[in-house]
Amino acid sequence: MLQKLTTEYFNQVHDLIKHYSDKQLMLPISLDELYHRAQAYRLVVQDEQVLACAHLDIFTPELAEIKSLAVSELEQGSGYGRQLVEDCERQARELGIKKLFVLTFQQGFFEKLGYQVVDRDTLPEKVYKECVKCSFYEDCQEIAMVKNIA
Ligand SMILES: CC(C)(COP(=O)(O)OP(=O)(O)OC[C@H]1O[C@@H](n2cnc3c(N)ncnc32)[C@H](O)[C@@H]1OP(=O)(O)O)[C@@H](O)C(=O)NCCC(=O)NCCS
Repeated sequence: MLQKLTTEYFNQVHDLIKHYSDKQLMLPISLDELYHRAQAYRLVVQDEQVLACAHLDIFTPELAEIKSLAVSELEQGSGYGRQLVEDCERQARELGIKKLFVLTFQQGFFEKLGYQVVDRDTLPEKVYKECVKCSFYEDCQEIAMVKNIA
């Protein structure tokens, strides 16, 4: 079952994301940014261990991004990634958002969940707000994918 991010799990979530950002599979997040976005996170927790996390970041009334999706190495293939993506989709629908996007190296996973590859430049809301400030901007290898959820 999914749960909200409560303070006792800040460090574990930070470590989980750092594990993959060190491997350049996702962008890092500072603890300050994690505190700031805490209310948007959903976790899979078992025996007080964080197994997986994700959060929804709203860009406009129409558009949101799934961010920080990470499943611990030992738990991959257990359905937690799908569960978290579907929960982000449910939250987005409840808010009236019509389109979700991700920037990812996990094209096959997101294709399975109904996301389609697009040109990153079709997401100017993301590019001009965040990508331009990113150190990887000029040579970004992440794949932009979208899903219409209306
Ligand atoms: C990508 C990731 C989130 C997937 O989570 P997961 O819990 O292992 O995936 P699930 O078990 O929910 O898989 C759902 C389906 O996608 C498939 N799948 C999982 N990873 C896949 C991949 N890399 N390529 C193709 N299909 C994949 C599964 O086989 C499963 O298919 P099925 O429903 O037909 O059985 C996880 O591997 C991960 O955390 N990776 C490292 C961090 C990362 O890259 N995060 C993404 C940032 S955008």
